[in-house]
Amino acid sequence: MSQIIFIPAEGGSGEPRVAASTDTVKRMVALGFDVVVESGAGTLSRIVDEDYAKSGATIGSASDAARADVILKVRRPNTTELKSYKRGAAVIAAMDPYGNDDAVAAMAAAGVSAFAMEFMPRITRAQSMDILSSQANLAGYQAVVDAAAEYDRALPMMMTAAGTVPAAKVFIMGVGVAGLQAIATARRLGAVVTATDVRPAAKEQVASLGAKFLAVEDDEFKAAETAGGYAKEMSKEYQAKQAALTADHIAKQDIVITTALIPGRPAPKLISAAMVASMKPGSVIVDLAVERGGNVEGAVAGKVVTTANGVKIVGHLNVAGRLAASASQLYAMNLYAFLETLVDKTTRTLAIKPDDELVKATLLTHEGAVIHPTFAGKAPVKAAPKKSPPRPAAAKKAGAAKTKGGV
Ligand code: NAI
Repeated sequence: MSQIIFIPAEGGSGEPRVAASTDTVKRMVALGFDVVVESGAGTLSRIVDEDYAKSGATIGSASDAARADVILKVRRPNTTELKSYKRGAAVIAAMDPYGNDDAVAAMAAAGVSAFAMEFMPRITRAQSMDILSSQANLAGYQAVVDAAAEYDRALPMMMTAAGTVPAAKVFIMGVGVAGLQAIATARRLGAVVTATDVRPAAKEQVASLGAKFLAVEDDEFKAAETAGGYAKEMSKEYQAKQAALTADHIAKQDIVITTALIPGRPAPKLISAAMVASMKPGSVIVDLAVERGGNVEGAVAGKVVTTANGVKIVGHLNVAGRLAASASQLYAMNLYAFLETLVDKTTRTLAIKPDDELVKATLLTHEGAVIHPTFAGKAPVKAAPKKSPPRPAAAKKAGAAKTKGGV
């Protein structure tokens, strides 16, 4: 009998994305699984039940989770969902485990093998499984679209018989995956784009996209990139120099988009209330880091705030979810690409290999225990492991040093 993969509706969480596309359903069926999709799971991502059914899935209800050997999700399962899962089921999702030790312990107690997709190492083999990149790329694009929608003027320069509309000045702060896509999108819309980052590698990438780079390029800057390619938390002195350099520049911008993050740390504060106050009325700031504490003073998660001097600060949550249809298409493929590595092609069943580097990096809980080195021992787990769990020691670096939540 085939094993069952269940795709639930994300339901009450307000999450519009879904963890399978019609394409990945076809692929999972071809791998030898029975795929059950909860009715309505794809509605907000523009995939109707009928499309899933045509791709080979059975349309079911939430109670089908109890039969599933694998559950593919966008968000970590809540306690009600966990109660319905069978022990030993694999749950693959963005688990957002930092600061959520109780939720991680609950997954262990439920006996599920919980895989945190955001811990996928950024190695060539796993590029197609990188949910942080696929979702940040879309978020960077959407940030520009959101900024343009809030901005009362046109972005491109327009020379007309009735006069010239100047090009908007757009400044991108933090140029990882989201920031680079924001630069490209703002350039496509005709804006004059500048960008900053603390990693020297960003300088060339910014220039290659036709934007101007602005940064304090001292010795600390030269050493700001970790071995994993991420930014370090900068010293107070550097932050002061950075603020002094960017303050005048920000005052002259029409749109500022901030994306700066440091793995496992709160987002760095880059724009003070005084800098916001220095901007012209009608200027727009989009804070993509708002879910991790925010880069902008005065940004409110989930809200568009207008300041006393008429500057709009956009703090939308789940920005990738604002393009749910595109985001789900890519997210679903990220999950499928990983799932494929967990399947024994001969028996056509799930066969988790504890020594695989992708498993080591992502497996949070297994056989009743929290086994990921970053989280093991943080919260008590009632259920005892049935046998010795795999020890993913090497995953510590790949997981802890290179990961963050907020997908
Ligand atoms: P991220 O989401 O962790 O941070 C966003 C950006 O904020 C980064 O560029 C970071 O340097 C910058 N930042 C942090 N503190 C700052 C500050 N105080 N001021 C200004 N900027 C600040 O980064 P993301 O998007 O995850 O990318 C991190 C790295 O990983 C990049 O080097 C990227 O090229 C690399 N990468 C590699 C992949 C692969 O090899 N498969 C895939 C995707 C990204």
